[in-house]
Amino acid sequence: MAIQRPKGTQDHLPEGSPKLSLDNRAAAFHFVRETARRVLERAGAQRIDTPIFEEAELVKRGVGGSTDIVRKEMFTVYYFGDHGGYILRPEGTAGIVRAYLQNGLKQLPAPLKVWLTGPMFRAENVQKGRLRQFHQVDYEVLGSTDPLVDAEAISLLVDVVKALGLRSVKVKLGSIGDPPDRDAYNEYLRGLFSPVRERLSDDSKDRLERNPMRILDSKSEGDQQLIAELAVKPMLDFLGAEARAHFEQVQKYLRDWDVKFDIDPSIVRGLDYYRRTAWELHHEGVGAKSALCGGGRYDGLAEQLGGPAVPGIGWAFGVERLLLAMEAEGVELPVQEGPLLYVAALDEENVPYAASLAMSARSVARAEFAYRAMKPASAFRDAERRGAHLIALIGSNEVAQGTITLKNLVSGEQTLVETSDLVAFLAEQGKE
Ligand code: HAM
Repeated sequence: MAIQRPKGTQDHLPEGSPKLSLDNRAAAFHFVRETARRVLERAGAQRIDTPIFEEAELVKRGVGGSTDIVRKEMFTVYYFGDHGGYILRPEGTAGIVRAYLQNGLKQLPAPLKVWLTGPMFRAENVQKGRLRQFHQVDYEVLGSTDPLVDAEAISLLVDVVKALGLRSVKVKLGSIGDPPDRDAYNEYLRGLFSPVRERLSDDSKDRLERNPMRILDSKSEGDQQLIAELAVKPMLDFLGAEARAHFEQVQKYLRDWDVKFDIDPSIVRGLDYYRRTAWELHHEGVGAKSALCGGGRYDGLAEQLGGPAVPGIGWAFGVERLLLAMEAEGVELPVQEGPLLYVAALDEENVPYAASLAMSARSVARAEFAYRAMKPASAFRDAERRGAHLIALIGSNEVAQGTITLKNLVSGEQTLVETSDLVAFLAEQGKE
């Protein structure tokens, strides 16, 4: 058997490929990213790109030493003679904050809104919607603690999802509080779980020592059962006055703008950098455990990376998960346009001439040509398979007379144009 792609990765395939589904269709990825770009850039976000590999220390300090991502799912990058200290990025936020600090982006008008899209890497147990290389669209706002920014970020997420045609999504909103609130909650959890330590999974025994809150997002069924049995109080019960006021204000804005959300008191998120507002986006078609999107505020992250204080907030959705949700809802992609013009030569000697016509047409339109001489019937069949609107067949007469007959494949209408007028004619057609 020929070499296969690594487990947990996907190829993104061209239209018409066998075994095409929405989540491996290149055009679908393009549609999601392009839709997100339109919505986010209208709100003032600018594109940012950061390296796919970063210092391991960035991921450890950013995402947090007690998270599954850092403890079990990191892809380490080696090259000859290297210190082995690079990691394929598991998410975008830490890299964006690093880039902000390193490149002096503080000088730009605050708050700075940026967005990123690209592959992320986590060595997870592979299942539907859980890949080792997946793709995110990531939106981040740096330099403001205003709850208005939180509400706008959530509202923009909902706008993106609506623009994609999804209907059955739910925003689950919570708050992780400020660090002292979190300390108090961890203390409470330690007290609750310590007497039943033996019933916890090995991972969670470890979490009990390092960061008890991480037990709550354990993927072990036994742990989840225990959590239910103990009727664990939610993080929201532990919010201090300031975090609570911030949370109330975010909700007020969302209600004012009619952005729907449910309060989820138990949201803890799987990364350590969060503070205050945190949320997830869920969809019935993808399963209750798999969020389409996660986001929240991370006001302490820049300091954790060794920089000055820079408040921040953002979200990232998994493009593959979004596509699974779109598939579950039967959302249709806009039809991809084929070439406007297809040019085929009837004799081998005129193939290069036909090619040059198609290539000159590309200054104003999509155009393809046949790479070898064709009989009219096969040229028509090929043009139709490619979804062309116009076909031109080139014989020696056309070459000698400097004319070209364009046949509209939909209406059957034929137009004779001077070859020198072809570009102007196509430009006119393209406007309709
Ligand atoms: P996250 O919740 O770890 O947050 O990931 C965000 C989204 O990425 C998830 O909701 C999911 O759709 C997708 N995702 C995560 N892991 C996988 C996987 N193994 N396979 C497929 N899709 C996956 C973050 O990454 C944060 N950086 C979000 C953020 C931005 N917070 C603030 N700003």
